[in-house]
Amino acid sequence: MSLKTKKIGILTGGGDCPGLNAVIRGVAKSAINVWGMEVIGIEDGFEGFVESKKIDLDENSVSGILSIGGTILGSSNKADPFRYPVTMPDGKLNISDASKQVLFNYEKWELDAVVAIGGDGTMNIAKKLGDMGMNIVGVPKTIDNDLQGTDVTFGFMTAVDIATEAIDRLHTTASSHHRVMVIEVMGRYAGWIALHAGVAGGGDIILIPEIPFQWEAVYDKVRSRSRKGKRFSIVVVAEGAHAEKEELVVKGKDATRTDPKRLGGVGNYVAQKITENTGLETRVTVLGHLQRGGSPSAFDRILSTRFGTEASRLINMDIFGKMVALKGQDIVDVPVEEAIKGLKLVPRDCNLVLSAKSVGTCFGVND
Ligand code: F6P
Repeated sequence: MSLKTKKIGILTGGGDCPGLNAVIRGVAKSAINVWGMEVIGIEDGFEGFVESKKIDLDENSVSGILSIGGTILGSSNKADPFRYPVTMPDGKLNISDASKQVLFNYEKWELDAVVAIGGDGTMNIAKKLGDMGMNIVGVPKTIDNDLQGTDVTFGFMTAVDIATEAIDRLHTTASSHHRVMVIEVMGRYAGWIALHAGVAGGGDIILIPEIPFQWEAVYDKVRSRSRKGKRFSIVVVAEGAHAEKEELVVKGKDATRTDPKRLGGVGNYVAQKITENTGLETRVTVLGHLQRGGSPSAFDRILSTRFGTEASRLINMDIFGKMVALKGQDIVDVPVEEAIKGLKLVPRDCNLVLSAKSVGTCFGVND
């Protein structure tokens, strides 16, 4: 362990989510107060590293942000330094490798380490920069909860709480008007938000990407509820859900993003098919970015604080190339490689799926 005052940078990459500021506060306060480090914030994720945008952080600048949504540092999901997009004067998009510029600024700013707060895209970048010699510690963020290596990412439980409240509200209006209410939630290629909020909100049908559904099973479920005198149904659809032998529904593509596909639209598709095939009246709610905005839940404030303080403790110990993680009740660290060895998806026969089936929830399949 060196005795020189360490200088660290913090950045938030990818889509924002509740708890980012709580992590920034956890890292910075413990780094400054416990470990005597200097801290800077790199603005707009890796874009700040390429474009030289940074701010000094002291105790005051991270005070009062625990409960505030978003990120005081800004974020970007279009700034992968290994395929960095620049729009040229003629309007054409030029994608090039800007990773050396990141290394240049790392040296120029005399950083000893960087805390990269993000999802799979950010962890992939962190791993590659680590291989080039940068000292990195990762903190797992995403409402999608699809990162390997940790039981849960921060931001996920807040998104689940928001989606659950929305389902509760849809229940009352659904029952007044005897309608089928379809709610589309986020989650990308994973169904964690739909599964958890669907169970917590008592959804009648939950459609997730990991269980491609059969249209007839969906129609049967709403019809059978109707026959039993239950004159409404709640259908919770993950944005990545799709019927068997069908592709997932894509809203658009954007070459500047780490993942060019923008998902969305399956909720409307499902509602339209239900109306056409059952004659029942449907309405659709697309929850969208409400799931990412606003204040983090108590669970996420606590998790973020534990993650952030652990990240600065690791740096003080000169432990790099790791991502902090939650395993059971414990905060641990895992190699960054573990986080990026494929997305963490919902196992078809996991306890929560089986439990939901036991209370009559339909996953759009007849098993
Ligand atoms: O990864 C988080 C997430 O909110 C996904 O659930 C969603 O598909 C995507 O980001 C939306 O991205 P954007 O904010 O760029 O539309």
